[in-house]
Amino acid sequence: MILLLIGPPGAGKGTQALRLANQYGIAHISTGDMFRDISKNPQTALEKEVKEIMTRGDLIPDDVTIGLVEERIKRPDCEKGFILDGFPRTVPQAEVLDKMLENVHKPLDYVFLFEVDDEALVERKAGRLFAPQSKRVYHKTYNPPKEPGKCDETGENLIQRDDDKPEATRHRLSVYQKQTAPVIAYYDETKRITRLDGMGSMDEVFTSLCEEIDK
Ligand code: AP5
Ligand code: MG
Repeated sequence: MILLLIGPPGAGKGTQALRLANQYGIAHISTGDMFRDISKNPQTALEKEVKEIMTRGDLIPDDVTIGLVEERIKRPDCEKGFILDGFPRTVPQAEVLDKMLENVHKPLDYVFLFEVDDEALVERKAGRLFAPQSKRVYHKTYNPPKEPGKCDETGENLIQRDDDKPEATRHRLSVYQKQTAPVIAYYDETKRITRLDGMGSMDEVFTSLCEEIDK
């Protein structure tokens, strides 16, 4: 099973991808998490550039992103299927993905689009807490950790992502409109999008995703 999760920053893609990966036993591929790992202790020019681009809230160049995903989906844990969370984010990325899947004769089962109001996105991002090692995502109000500031799974300290600061959030929303909204049109043309109300609670959104998949 191959699933794509598309939606604006803070829509809940990462939160649901983790649950879906557990539910269906498939790999979770988050390009954002991969880039955060690459830029954690930036040494090379490329790592430093990735860090700067992410902090600003811009997109990493397509060639770098596509190369990373191409390698990742060849790994054995992707054989049973995978969830792409945050990829594709540009039309060229979507076109290359179609070719990659065609070459290995694997169909794209679902493209889920998370629809969430801007006001809710800002609130979700402002309260998000992130565990850099386990990659778990919390929220101060909507999904607090059991012990304040610590990851439930690893006990590591939770941090605020640089790109969750208000200026970066505003910028990321405009980047989404300019560069990622055309990806929605790309999949719409071939009627491959399933729109999802992302305004419900985490459990409600998860239930509607599973209902759609289990149909
Ligand atoms: P990435 O990490 O992918 O960021 P994003 O897609 O913009 O989305 P976020 O991770 O910000 O939000 P999310 O939808 O996962 O929401 P979450 O579940 O955390 O990308 C970061 C950067 O990497 C990009 O800016 C770019 O530089 C680079 N990059 C990545 N992929 C790239 C690509 N393909 N091409 C080029 N560059 C790329 O939830 C948000 C918060 O809300 C959490 O606190 C959560 O607890 C809470 N929450 C979730 N669901 C609900 C709910 N239903 N109700 C209430 N609260 C909720
Ligand atoms: Mg995410």
